[in-house]
Amino acid sequence: MYEPVLSPDEARALLRWYADMGVDEAVAPTPTNLFSWRADRPGLAAATAPAAARKRQAVSGAPSSPAPAMVAANAADAPMPADEAVAAAQAAARTADNFEALIAAIEAFEGCPLKAGARKTVVADGSPGGDLLVLGEAPGRDEDATGKPFVGRAGQLLDKMLTSIGRARTTDTLISNVIFWRPPGNRTPTATETAICRPFVDRLIELAAPKVILLAGGAPTQAMLGLSGIMRARGVWRDIEIGGRAIPAMPIFHPAFLLRQPMQKRLAWRDLLALDQRLREG
Ligand code: URA
Repeated sequence: MYEPVLSPDEARALLRWYADMGVDEAVAPTPTNLFSWRADRPGLAAATAPAAARKRQAVSGAPSSPAPAMVAANAADAPMPADEAVAAAQAAARTADNFEALIAAIEAFEGCPLKAGARKTVVADGSPGGDLLVLGEAPGRDEDATGKPFVGRAGQLLDKMLTSIGRARTTDTLISNVIFWRPPGNRTPTATETAICRPFVDRLIELAAPKVILLAGGAPTQAMLGLSGIMRARGVWRDIEIGGRAIPAMPIFHPAFLLRQPMQKRLAWRDLLALDQRLREG
């Protein structure tokens, strides 16, 4: 008799874990190590060739000769070299002369390898004309599903933090990230991915022209100020120079960190009061 290896609850938990880790497409009935793929095992390649290659094959009606398809797919799908991707991002960002054009340029951009694994491009939410810009790290699962930054549990806490000083994304605050596509399994974005997105972040700051920038967490603090160590960096104002303007920026604990370490809310509250004062000073 068939004995299930996992109970329904265990199977559900395993699937949820796969989804959280970014494994969300079943390409073959069993896991395959593509690093050990060999051209002399054709059946395997047909099942495991990247989706784009399979689609190309289907469209062109080419016979499923797996080895060449795999090679061609790898050549065509190979990511752009990082310096070319940064140059392409700079060129695309420069041409955007308003906020909508910038969003369209980011959505059309193909130079960031993270895009291939993401469902949605997540650029910004809130008020582009507001005096406060909050920059987070990167979209997570909820943001990837909805296309809006900071909508999951951390986003809800961020909204509460803003409300506590009389601010809201609907009225005076713009919210974005230093990365526009969800990294697989929510891993920390690499320096290359951050450098590729950076020209768009700079242009977003130029166009939004906020009075003050809040850097939520270590990743945006590293990306925008070159500082590591959020514990020491938080609560201290430093300028970000963009487009000939010096904009005061303050690192603050990421709301996801505060959900894990509620004791640290005391320091976050202190930072929020300093932010409020700065905004009132005009
Ligand atoms: N964490 C971030 O840094 N950004 C989001 O948009 C969501 C969670």
